[in-house]
Amino acid sequence: MNKNWWKNAVVYQIYPRSFADSNGDGVGDLRGITGRMGYLKDLGIDVIWLSPVYQSPNADNGYDISDYRAIMPEFGTMEDFDEMLQTAHCHGIRIMMDMVLNHSSDEHPWFRESRKSKDNPYRDYYIWKDPKENGDPPNRWESSFSGPAWTFDETTGQYYLHLFAEKQPDLNWDNPSLRQEIYDMMKWWRDKGVDGFRFDVISLISKDPAFPEGEELGNGYTAITCANGPRIHEYLKEMNAAVMEGYPLITVGECPMVDEEMAKLYSGEDRHELNMIFHFEHVSGSRKNPGKYGKWDSPPMDLTELKQVLSRWQYSLAEEGWNSIYLSNHDQPRCVSRFGNDSAEYRVLSAKMLATAMHMLKGTPYIYQGEELGMTNPAFDSIDLYQDVESLNIYRELTEEEGLPESQVMDYLKKVSRDNARTPMQWDGGKNAGFSSGTPWIRINPNYVEINVQKEQMDPDSVFHYYRKLIDLRHTYPVVAEGKYGLLLPDHPSIFAYTRSLGEERLLVVCNFSKNITDIPEEIRREMSGRLLIANYEEQGTDWLRPYEAAVWYRKG
Ligand code: GLC
Ligand code: CA
Repeated sequence: MNKNWWKNAVVYQIYPRSFADSNGDGVGDLRGITGRMGYLKDLGIDVIWLSPVYQSPNADNGYDISDYRAIMPEFGTMEDFDEMLQTAHCHGIRIMMDMVLNHSSDEHPWFRESRKSKDNPYRDYYIWKDPKENGDPPNRWESSFSGPAWTFDETTGQYYLHLFAEKQPDLNWDNPSLRQEIYDMMKWWRDKGVDGFRFDVISLISKDPAFPEGEELGNGYTAITCANGPRIHEYLKEMNAAVMEGYPLITVGECPMVDEEMAKLYSGEDRHELNMIFHFEHVSGSRKNPGKYGKWDSPPMDLTELKQVLSRWQYSLAEEGWNSIYLSNHDQPRCVSRFGNDSAEYRVLSAKMLATAMHMLKGTPYIYQGEELGMTNPAFDSIDLYQDVESLNIYRELTEEEGLPESQVMDYLKKVSRDNARTPMQWDGGKNAGFSSGTPWIRINPNYVEINVQKEQMDPDSVFHYYRKLIDLRHTYPVVAEGKYGLLLPDHPSIFAYTRSLGEERLLVVCNFSKNITDIPEEIRREMSGRLLIANYEEQGTDWLRPYEAAVWYRKG
């Protein structure tokens, strides 16, 4: 097997809780996934990234693990897992596990031991510090889920660090026995036959031993200064040598606060760390005009900024390192609602346009469940419908501590809450969208009657069939997987156009990001020749682009 097989693979992310429920308890599960493997095969994807399925008290839906070698009972048993893995492999689909290694659950036996006493052998598996003289936390770091990143523990009179929820204490990677236990656990999954790993917030694992206060952001908030810590690359190399070396695995690191230069250090082939990383620049809101409350009130990027960011990454990793390509995942709102237009008139067109713009880039594309249907944000209008710890905490913080009007905070949630992506997969137009025969753990988007797998499979012009075709193009044309990227019209406010070239082959990708009819500049018009590979309107003109029009032209020689 070519060890770089993942360079022309397409990954599909499953958020198990919301994918398919096989036993009617309202929660998606492993047998549900096994039962839908044929669907994924039909879509044509190569790899499933499975969000965490380990034993967990679910303070953060599985991103708080209490046993890394056991399956969460709600999701099934280890036999169910093995069956799912085997079924995937029979369909030629590989499985990538989600490794949450920056922190564990506070219910993990390591933490239960650790908090018992200062001289417990597991004390040093976590990060404990004395209070400041006045009793305050050791520094001003804040949790990503609101409030301080430190919680005081009465038993031993010290604070422990949690960059996320209180129930997600950070592991101390500086402890060699902890690292060894983690590598052993990963080898155990590897030897079971899984095909790769996605590493949760991996850029945060090495903490600066000085625990500096962090930079004041001028709005009462403080940047956490622990991304890309002093030993991060040492640890990744050590993990690679212990677990990955010599195995044809796919690896991707989720890397907050990593830019395209640092990305080469994480993903350069001769670095022996990771295959690729996820960065956040294009999904973090506008940098030109950032809001006061981070992602909650930052306006989305305009197209010129988006093109600039994506292109910078394309150019920077052209020869060294590798890009991962995504617009949505379980932490982001639905991409058609955010970057496209989810009105009845433009939803299908704009979902296809966005998919074209992303899937023709160089890198490994990631599709989040339901994206291939053009699923939309549900616009929940009551806080009672939200389940996510981040959303519930920010709601409390902004309404109670910051005194913002409820309606304003609800608008933030409707736009960027993580629950936007977590409503159940819409399989058919029947009861509960075919997701569950019981009561779903989170409300289903009522538009399932219109937007669902069954309907889209039958409609040759659906978003689903368009994604199938895009995936197929990557598998068929080497220029899609390997071609060199070149941006056209960098300053055009509504057209995203670029070329890809490989030897004699050349692609021209043209996308209209607006609902206005837009003239095609001469510079592009003269390039629009050859064969049309894919487009979201039936007939092609070369004078103007219609609302959300997308087209890919192919030329040889
Ligand atoms: C990552 C996950 C997110 C989780 C957080 C803490 O960002 O994608 O869902 O809440 O890490 O584990
Ligand atoms: Ca279930």
